[in-house]
Amino acid sequence: MPGAGLKDRIGAVVLRWGSRREVDLSKVRFLPSRITMPLRRDGLDPLPALRRLADETPVSRLRIPFGPTAWLVTSHEVARTVLADKDTYSTDVSHLLGEDAKREQGGLGFTDPPDHTRLRKFLTPEFTMRRLARLGPRIDQIVSDRLDAMAEAGPTVDLVQEFAIPIPFEVICELIGLDDLQRKRLEGLGQARFDISAGGTGAFGAVSQSREVLADAVAQQRIDPGEGLLGQIIREHGDAISDHDLTGLLDGLFTGGFETTASMIALGTVLLLREQGQLATVAAADDEAVHRTVEEMLRYLTVVQVAFPRFARVDHDLHGTQVSKGDVVMCSLLATDRDRALVDGDPDLFDPTRPASQHDAFGYGFHRCVGAELARMELRAAFPALARRFPELALAVDAKDVEYRKLSLVFGVESLPVRLG
Ligand code: HEM
Repeated sequence: MPGAGLKDRIGAVVLRWGSRREVDLSKVRFLPSRITMPLRRDGLDPLPALRRLADETPVSRLRIPFGPTAWLVTSHEVARTVLADKDTYSTDVSHLLGEDAKREQGGLGFTDPPDHTRLRKFLTPEFTMRRLARLGPRIDQIVSDRLDAMAEAGPTVDLVQEFAIPIPFEVICELIGLDDLQRKRLEGLGQARFDISAGGTGAFGAVSQSREVLADAVAQQRIDPGEGLLGQIIREHGDAISDHDLTGLLDGLFTGGFETTASMIALGTVLLLREQGQLATVAAADDEAVHRTVEEMLRYLTVVQVAFPRFARVDHDLHGTQVSKGDVVMCSLLATDRDRALVDGDPDLFDPTRPASQHDAFGYGFHRCVGAELARMELRAAFPALARRFPELALAVDAKDVEYRKLSLVFGVESLPVRLG
């Protein structure tokens, strides 16, 4: 990035940090609290400052020291106009990170059309309900095996380590069609990818090593395509997709689908244990009631706190705010999912009896989560099975001692000690 000013260079550092979802931002001490506000919580709720901001104005300025001009969108309606707009915004970070870092990054999130459209076309058919249906019995089996492992490890276990992390990990391996050795190699790395100690360096190392495993799987299945998503894409498209792009897509499935779903399983359990009688209600619930509960959990928790940064391609008016070319527009998905206009009643109340809302927990528009239906399948399988197997499940610590992440792009808990009863 020769010739880039100090501002852009430091801005790049901030965004490089920020762009790898796995990195623990709490090591970024120089960020003023007003900047980090959309990435912090008050228990499970938005900080009062974010709530106030959302009630005051849908678009507000975020002053990033030495960084680009940034805007925070907190209204559901305005966020949807930003997230659906291909012409005004770009998620391509190469102008800040450099082409090499962008190429290394790969995946869909930081790619603009037409490349994004081309790459997403390979994945979308694999995430239709008809295609995902083949995974249903496997997901039930994986959940049941984890419940057995918990019973074995009990009576007090860390639900994050024993249940929330293993389920999405095994489901993604199953989805892709990785063999036992590749799963074993990834297993250790899988957790290191999300190791939030040591400032995320562990995560970086693990990311590149896990890409090696995925690249090996691609090379192997070029010769002998398997029954999973990887084999299906190779059989259907052959050399129309390069090994690099295919590896980048697989890596994006891990980055997108692992920590997010693990956090939802852990935090959803906190909700079921926090709300009197909720566990028994879910244990006895029919499918429709389970679906409604899961949708309300997704809205209320919104674990992906902000959408990928959007860079303005042109000067424009955003709901009365003048945004200049190059400015960064951050949509606070948490604020938009707690927008008073989104639901009847108090949006800061977890109410599984309310009708499913048009929440943006999975984003919106052309970058909308490709794995949304798979994540729903996992959550709809995990919660009723957990509640039926351990009807006396309870926190093994005081609710106020549950360790929520302090500052992160994907909100979650470090551990969740529970008594199985
Ligand atoms: C509860 C679990 C999940 C949540 C809350 C979640 C949330 C999101 C959100 C908010 C976005 C859009 C970000 C934006 O527009 O800036 C996204 C994109 C994405 N998600 Fe998910 N996700 C989840 C599970 C999954 C799963 C299971 C997979 C795959 C196995 C996955 C793969 C992806 C990919 C590849 C993208 C990028 C799509 C694109 O840029 O076109 N996610 N996710």
